[in-house]
Amino acid sequence: MEKLKANHLLLESPPGWADYELLDCGDFEKLERFGNYILIRPEPQAIWPKMLDDAEWMKLANGRFVRDNSKKSHRNTDNDQGGWTKLKALPESWKISYNLAGKNLVFKLALTSFGHIGIFPEQANNWNYVRDRIHEMGKANECKLLNLFAYTGGLSVAARSQGAEVSHVDSVKSIITWANENQQLSGLDGIRWVIEDAIKFARREATRGNKYQGIVLDPPAYGRGPKGEKWILEDLLPELMSYCKEILDPHKGFFILNLYSMGWSALMAENMVKSYFPKAKTELGEFYLPAKSGLRLPMGIFLRFHY
Ligand SMILES: C[S@@+](CC[C@H](N)C(=O)[O-])C[C@H]1O[C@@H](n2cnc3c(N)ncnc32)[C@H](O)[C@@H]1O
Repeated sequence: MEKLKANHLLLESPPGWADYELLDCGDFEKLERFGNYILIRPEPQAIWPKMLDDAEWMKLANGRFVRDNSKKSHRNTDNDQGGWTKLKALPESWKISYNLAGKNLVFKLALTSFGHIGIFPEQANNWNYVRDRIHEMGKANECKLLNLFAYTGGLSVAARSQGAEVSHVDSVKSIITWANENQQLSGLDGIRWVIEDAIKFARREATRGNKYQGIVLDPPAYGRGPKGEKWILEDLLPELMSYCKEILDPHKGFFILNLYSMGWSALMAENMVKSYFPKAKTELGEFYLPAKSGLRLPMGIFLRFHY
């Protein structure tokens, strides 16, 4: 029987969070602390029972979001509304920070009608990976980074804080405004904001012959461009990968693909990337958040390489 080396599949939890903590998860929900506030939110992957009891959760939480369909992805940002219930003091928005190699990144959090609050804490794994790559490249301003499906800009702000030239692409104007607030709160400037359909933008960059030393893809299962263009992950990812192949600098660069839709395995991501970058020495694995109660909550898969 052939066994893959155990170290080939990585399990990574985000280092260095003082303002974030997963307290418990189970029964399709998670209990998390963001700064001074504790929230209960839906978590479709948490199919096991909670470790703490319901009364403890309700005692701890400042607010709870309940979605109509609790089985949808934890990263849904564009459908499936629900409602917040405030259980004790809870502002509409507040801030948390993260220290990345001495740079204080500050993020605005807000209660949205989709249950997301503007940050995906497990993504700090990618922030650290990107920081290492930018530093390896030597002169920091030699890294042009393209962040597609870039949301409120966690990774864009992290990369900018380390000196990269960042192009941040998202289809939703209000989300880009939020990302710009995060840039300003973090004392940074210079991120190029692009309100555009990710695939259209990548296609155009390929036609223009533009090159990037870093490309980060964090695509949802379904999405919409600003003109209603449909994004369906399994139909369009191959085409998007073909443009990435053209625009990634062949001499030095890195690439990250995140997938957080249920049903995707790390090997599917690896096969997808190997089809377009056959020589890439890929790292693949799963992100997780360690709960204080002892459980490990899966938060999607990643595939990345650099050279
Ligand atoms: C879950 S978020 C990605 C999270 C983000 N990378 C982070 O780490 O915080 C998915 C983003 O894709 C955007 N989006 C959806 N369809 C899109 C499309 N066709 N073109 C560009 N952005 C799109 C959404 O507006 C949303 O901000």
